Amino acid sequence: MENIRATITAVGAYVPEYILDNHELSKMVDTSNEWIMSRVGIKERHILKEEGEGSSFMGVRAVQDLLDKTGVKPEEIDLVICATITPDHAFPATANIICDKVGIRNAQGFDMNGACSGFLYSLDVATKFIETGSKKKVIVVGADKMSSIVDYTDRTTCVLFGDASAAVLVEPTTEDIGIKDSILESDGAGRHFLYMKGGGSAYPSSHETIDAKMHYVYQDGKTVFKHAVSRMADVSVDIMKRNNISPEELAWLVPHQANLRIIDATAKRMEIKKEQVMINIERYGNTTAATIPLCLWEWEKQLNKGDNIILAAFGAGFTWGATYIKWGYDGSKYHKEE
Ligand code: UT7
Repeated sequence: MENIRATITAVGAYVPEYILDNHELSKMVDTSNEWIMSRVGIKERHILKEEGEGSSFMGVRAVQDLLDKTGVKPEEIDLVICATITPDHAFPATANIICDKVGIRNAQGFDMNGACSGFLYSLDVATKFIETGSKKKVIVVGADKMSSIVDYTDRTTCVLFGDASAAVLVEPTTEDIGIKDSILESDGAGRHFLYMKGGGSAYPSSHETIDAKMHYVYQDGKTVFKHAVSRMADVSVDIMKRNNISPEELAWLVPHQANLRIIDATAKRMEIKKEQVMINIERYGNTTAATIPLCLWEWEKQLNKGDNIILAAFGAGFTWGATYIKWGYDGSKYHKEE
C-alpha cells in the first residue's frame, strides 16, 4: 500500500476592516507607539466591530475564500476543525456554525482549544485523519475574536491582540511532500500565567465575576515571555535536527506572532536569516489561532512546491510545538493575474 501523507493544498483568510492603531490605543490607555513598537513590534491590529458577531463571522469568510479559490464544493468537505479560544458560544462548536453558514452538511466538525498553538494542534489532528485514510478533504480554520476577551483599560494586554481568521485545506498525497513531522507539547503547570478565569464551569458568569474582571485575558507577560522564548526555539531547533534540515535548506520559518522579540530569538537559535522568517505582527498583532495560517495566506504566492517550512508556536496552557512541512504546490497557481 502506498504511503499516504497529508498536504496543505490552499490557504484562505479574512481580516476585519476596522484598524485599531497605536495612536488610537494611546488615547485609551497610558501607552505609546514607541513602547509598543520597541517591546512587541505591533503597529496596528484589526478589530471585528459587527454587532452580535463572533469568531464564526470571520471563520465563515476565511473558509468561503478557500472554497472560492479552489473550486471545492461544500459537500466535498469531510471534516472541519476550528481552532479557537473565543468560540461564538460555549456550545455548539464554532465549527458547526461555520459549516452551516457555508453550506457544509453532514461533515464531522469540532473545535480545538490549543490557544496560540491551536492551529498546529488542529493541523496535527487533520494530518492523522488524512494519513489513516479516514478523511479526504479536511479544513483547519483558526478563528479568534480576541477583542471579545481583552480589557481595553489594561495596557499590559490590550496592545497585544487583534481579530482574524485563516483556513487551510488539507488533502492526501502519495508524493514526497506535505506535513512530515511535528513536535507538540504542553505543560499545565503554566496555566495560571496566561488564562481567562471566568465564564467556564469553575467560575460561571455572575455579577461577581464581572466585577472582578474575570472575563478578560490575564497574562503574566514576563513569565510567558521567558517560557515562549525557550520552548518555541527548542522545538524548532529539534525538528530541524531530526529531519536533517540545515539553516540554508529552510525556506521559511512561520512563527506564531506574539512578540517580535520572541520571533527574533527563535530565528537566532535556528541560525536562520530574517529573510527566511514570515513576520506580519506589525499589521495584525497576536490573532491567537489565526497567526500562522494568516502568514501562509499572505506569503502564499511566494511559496514553491518542495519548500522546507517550519511552523512554530507557543501559547496558553502552556502549549507549544513545531511542524515540518515540505510545501505541496506553487503558490503562484492561485495568483496568476498579480
Ligand atoms: O501568544 C501567547 C503567548 N504570549 C506571549 O508570548 C507574550 C509574552 N510576553 C510578552 O510578549 C511581553 O512580556 C509583553 C509584551 C507582554 C510585555 O513586555 P515586557 O518587556 O515583558 O514588559 P514588562 O511586562 O516587564 O513591563 C515593563 C514596563 C512596566 O513598567 P515598570 O513596572 O517597569 O514601571 C510595565 O508597566 O512596561 C510597562 N508597560 C507598558 N508601558 C507602556 C506594560 N505595558 C505597557 C504598555 N505601554 N502597553
